Amino acid sequence: MLDQPPNRPALPPEIARRRTFAIISHPDAGKTTLTEKFLLYGGAIQMAGQVRAKGEARRTRSDFMQMEKDRGISVSASAMSFDFNEFRFNLVDTPGHSDFSEDTYRTLTAVDAAVMVIDGAKGVESQTRKLFEVCRMRDLPILTFCNKMDREARDTFEIIDEIQEMLALHVTPASWPIGQGRDFLGCYDMLNDRLELMDRADRNRVAETIEIAGLDDPKMADHVPPALLDKLREDVEMARELLPALDAQAVREGQMTPIWFGSAINSFGVRELMQGIGAYAPEPQPQRATPRQIAPEEEAVSGFVFKVQANMDPRHRDRVAFLRLASGHFRRGMKLTHVRAKKPITVSAPVLFLAADRELAEEAWAGDIIGIPNHGQLRIGDTLTEGENLRVSGIPAFAPELLQQARAGDPMKAKHLEKALMQFAEEGAAKVFKPAFGSGFIVGVVGQLQFEVLGSRIEMEYGLPVRFEGSQFTSARWVTGPHDKVEAFIAANKQHIAHDNDGDVVYLTRLQWDIDRVARDYPDITLSATKEMM
Ligand code: G4P
Repeated sequence: MLDQPPNRPALPPEIARRRTFAIISHPDAGKTTLTEKFLLYGGAIQMAGQVRAKGEARRTRSDFMQMEKDRGISVSASAMSFDFNEFRFNLVDTPGHSDFSEDTYRTLTAVDAAVMVIDGAKGVESQTRKLFEVCRMRDLPILTFCNKMDREARDTFEIIDEIQEMLALHVTPASWPIGQGRDFLGCYDMLNDRLELMDRADRNRVAETIEIAGLDDPKMADHVPPALLDKLREDVEMARELLPALDAQAVREGQMTPIWFGSAINSFGVRELMQGIGAYAPEPQPQRATPRQIAPEEEAVSGFVFKVQANMDPRHRDRVAFLRLASGHFRRGMKLTHVRAKKPITVSAPVLFLAADRELAEEAWAGDIIGIPNHGQLRIGDTLTEGENLRVSGIPAFAPELLQQARAGDPMKAKHLEKALMQFAEEGAAKVFKPAFGSGFIVGVVGQLQFEVLGSRIEMEYGLPVRFEGSQFTSARWVTGPHDKVEAFIAANKQHIAHDNDGDVVYLTRLQWDIDRVARDYPDITLSATKEMM
């Protein structure tokens, strides 16, 4: 958690109403369906089903990878904004596949909270757990949605226990399911003493709400059959005895998660979850930066790039840098300072991502995410300010776990390949290393699938056939230390040295033994598996 000065001024209302969050889940738990329903209740789309349809259309329009469609995975992350009640929600999409975890990690640096979706029959799955670990590193508040309660689900206490044990997180039920599978009736709203009854006939209808005065209200019997009612009373009584009550502060600190039960496809529980995001997910938080942290209420506008997407539209060869606004009130046409390049940049065509469409953003506030089309000036980790020399920190790059040599299918096109590789490196899709010795490039990724994605994108977007071949190296480490020591280290280890796409020095090897040797023989040199993007 960052410092929260005790006398922080109140946030301007436009900032205070913003909730910027991501959804984390294992593939198939229902993230897409839930997103669709969010947009539906946010009034951003008229009919459920449009996210998928529009997503498809967008991908076809941008000629976006057949592979992505074939494999049914979402490789790219995007941001969507919509209003709900008095709130403005900014939902940042995370790629679900584990091969893209670095991208996901950076996406999570741009949000203030995460919604964790789990499947009621499967509980906490491997990918949920990995993503959760990333949230924990940042103490991100987490709200949980247990989906698919209209199917056979596990026992409610069992699910809660599993989350508590596997994730070491206190869990407090915000709602309690009544029946499950075919007998699933709806939920008892534990925060507001209400009955929420699911409409099975119309999947897009919001649940019927019945106000009641606690579980002993005789009205309950009008809606819940006796056997289910007895079980509900027993369960809720036990839950109130055994499980912690909702503690908003503990939720904000990432120590406790409230859990809602529902069925996204039946639109059930979604509205309550959205109300929960409004009530318990925090407003835009201060950002870690050097030499000082940035408070959202500061008048001066600042923001940082957490994602770059190239070639969203191949006709324009544009790139969009996704900027999370850290402070202030941004207006279109503003001149900001690109801190790394020490150059002014006029943001004349910022885009806001409303549902699946892009629109020009006339204004935006701290917490919002805007897309800035550019020709490569903006990279991941860049900070834009109104002049002050501030750099948002904590956006990491990870050493790749797989290395391969990239070769142009046509040797005459080697220069073109270099350009394409650099572009993908800046997008964050891969690491590209130029060895000090020999020719060609070594490309590093986190998962094998990324090579396939890269290969097919280079072919499609640049018309260049490319081959990835085994490299003599398997690990890469960034080299840091006093300038003269680094120079001496480079001179003595030329065969292992390369430069990454930012020009930073990298040590390549295939043996852990080499890494241990460097630690022993060069006490002033640090080899590290992460570097901060600045
Ligand atoms: P994901 O983005 O997390 O991968 O999940 P997605 O929303 O695509 O949902 C995965 C599958 O689960 C989909 O079925 C979806 O319809 C279904 N689903 C989502 N929410 C619920 C729910 O509350 N109850 C039930 N019973 N099913 C749910 P599919 O057959 O893979 O796709 P589709 O043909 O329905 O689109």
